[in-house]
Amino acid sequence: MNVPLLDLKAQYQTIKPELDAAVLRVAESQYFILGPDVEALEKNIAAFIGTKHAIGVSSGTDALLLAMMALGIGPGDGVIVPTFSFFATAGVVSRLNAVPIFVDIDPVSYNIAPAAIERAIAQYKDTVAIKAIVPVHLYGQSADMDAIMAIAAAHNLHVIEDAAQAIGTEYKDGRKVGSIGTVGCFSFFPSKNLGGYGDGGVITVNDDALAQRIRIMRVHGGEKQYYHQVIGGNFRLDALQAAVLNVKLPHLNGWSDGRRRNAALYTRLFMEHGAAEAEGRQAFDAKNRILLPARVHEAAAMEHNYRHIYNQYCIRVQNRDGLVQHLRDAGIGCAVYYPVPFHEQECFADVPSVHDVFPVSDDVCATILALPVYPELTEEMVAHVAEAVVSFM
Ligand SMILES: Cc1ncc(COP(=O)(O)O)c(C=O)c1O
Repeated sequence: MNVPLLDLKAQYQTIKPELDAAVLRVAESQYFILGPDVEALEKNIAAFIGTKHAIGVSSGTDALLLAMMALGIGPGDGVIVPTFSFFATAGVVSRLNAVPIFVDIDPVSYNIAPAAIERAIAQYKDTVAIKAIVPVHLYGQSADMDAIMAIAAAHNLHVIEDAAQAIGTEYKDGRKVGSIGTVGCFSFFPSKNLGGYGDGGVITVNDDALAQRIRIMRVHGGEKQYYHQVIGGNFRLDALQAAVLNVKLPHLNGWSDGRRRNAALYTRLFMEHGAAEAEGRQAFDAKNRILLPARVHEAAAMEHNYRHIYNQYCIRVQNRDGLVQHLRDAGIGCAVYYPVPFHEQECFADVPSVHDVFPVSDDVCATILALPVYPELTEEMVAHVAEAVVSFM
């Protein structure tokens, strides 16, 4: 039995008539950039996330870049980011000639560690004008937003939520991520839980003036065509993407339920074979065990309505190369998100904070491995993957 890491064709088959009709409708309208489909998507996303505004943009990367531009982040400004994330989180900071300040992550959630943020502020505040914190809701699980918002308030910093992997993720109080910080940035890359037919993204925001500034900067900084108040860019979303996403959005909660069901099944099967959970990391030292995502969230979910959307289900394993080979030989897809932290990337060699220490991120980069968790997996497929992992261990 072959089990790919992700099977977009399986999802397409479940809603093919609706999607085909939407694509055809855009083709027939010959209206390709922004317009009514994008406006409808923006209304739908704002209602889904729970913000006053949603602004469709060209990608998740551009959502981060445009949000930072609109917040006035520029040359020499400091932006605190976790050293463990997808490249865009830090890349956009350097593109604005601002300075990323890398900090370590929490060993249970793999999200930015609030204590590490406080240490970085104390260390850099006298030499860098720190403007913002970027919590990444990695793999579809919320960062510790209460602690992060408190630090931001104490130091007058913006909070730019990188929610690229977390559309529909709920924080412990039930608020959706992307509605808590100054702005939320999402990606519609095809492999995301809500994926388009190409690149796309959205920025969510409550502040009216900031929303207006983002809208203007999305179209080269001009409210009226050919008259430019500020420098912006081409950050527009295509009508085709919006049409596809409007069809998919009503299915998103069901898909996320499917991912949670598969994650829970993996966890049960692995626990039966003696795997350790992230909260009990000590047990992980044994060479023949794997470490599972923490189940704190499932316990919290019952109490608080807290929802992980499992864009990825990641285990940790000491002999990762061996397990990857074993799974590939068995026809099972898996991937490493991410093998190299920012502080070890060649392009960031001149960033001052690369000389700090990041023990958790280094350890996670060396041992993390994503398994297939997409909603169309059958129980047999999940069991097959789990057996393959267990037989290797
Ligand atoms: C955490 C994170 N941030 C930002 C991005 C950038 O999104 P996009 O690929 O749409 O530019 C991604 C997408 O892979 C991501 O996973």
